[in-house]
Amino acid sequence: MSESHEKLLQQYLSDCQTAKSTADLEALRVKYLGKKGEVTELLKGLGKMAPEERKAVGAAINELKNRIQSSLEESMREVALSEQNEKLNAERPDHSLPGLYPGTGGLHPVVQVAREVADIFLSMGFFMAEGPEIEEEYYNFEALNVPSHHPARDMQDTFYLESGQVLRTQTSPVQIRTMEALKPPLKMIGLGKVFRKDSDITHSPMFNQMEGLVVGENISMADLKGTLVMFVENMFGKRPHRFRPSYFPFTEPSAEMDIQCIFCEGKGCKVCKSTGWMEVLGCGMVNPKVFDAVKYDTEKYTGFAFGMGIDRIAMLRYGINDIRLLFSSDIRFLRQF
Ligand code: DAH
Repeated sequence: MSESHEKLLQQYLSDCQTAKSTADLEALRVKYLGKKGEVTELLKGLGKMAPEERKAVGAAINELKNRIQSSLEESMREVALSEQNEKLNAERPDHSLPGLYPGTGGLHPVVQVAREVADIFLSMGFFMAEGPEIEEEYYNFEALNVPSHHPARDMQDTFYLESGQVLRTQTSPVQIRTMEALKPPLKMIGLGKVFRKDSDITHSPMFNQMEGLVVGENISMADLKGTLVMFVENMFGKRPHRFRPSYFPFTEPSAEMDIQCIFCEGKGCKVCKSTGWMEVLGCGMVNPKVFDAVKYDTEKYTGFAFGMGIDRIAMLRYGINDIRLLFSSDIRFLRQF
């Protein structure tokens, strides 16, 4: 190799030291071996040489070319590999980064309260019964001793369907369907949606009720009280309660049960409208006319029934004053539960 070839090789080697990327190496390839590259130019110069000189010089240039070429190839392999590693490293997931919050959703406050209420009765040996939301007038009214002149049957209160059926206004028809299907003794609860033409801050055209019914021999008002006191103590804690006389067509006698306001402890506040009491449910001894409708022997069997608004219980429980919040699907409201 001549001195000038040696110089060119040294120049290439020092260029090669500073080449950091495959792009740099490609530029070197063009600079030395490309169409107008320095080595290529040397090869072009061969044509002007005398034949005997050409042989020796040609061999020397070819050796130079081969050395540069194999050096470039090796560098190319190394740099390409390290570039690939760098890329893989950059793409590696960082497991120490904080995770994204998975939107898991949650139970609606009414569902939570419904389950809590149901669990208390199920633990006392009640079973869960079901009935349709589109109900026959007979089950929703007649069989429950609600006569046709009763104001509850007014078009203004009840959603009547063209078929002559109604959207059930209460869960009490579940009592009738259950008694038609089963012989006493029985202890049932029924839970579900009910519908009334009513809408303001304490009324919604759709709301949720839970019904209860116990039938057997020697069932008395004492059983009613014992069961319902046990329920409210489980639900709201031990606190004063009272039964007020009331009226329902399907029970006789009838009562409403109040508990001491859980927000003011009876002192009087906005939630209890300054009465110190919160109404929790309606109840009573099953009217024998209801037993007649389902052909239960009124000489042998007695029973008690109760009904409560689940949404109302949820409102009392959480101190919510507008029932419409419960059905608004407002995520800012629902997140609080
Ligand atoms: N069905 C009644 C209502 O919608 C609630 C009720 C009261 C149910 C007393 C009962 C009961 O079973 O005994 O207001």
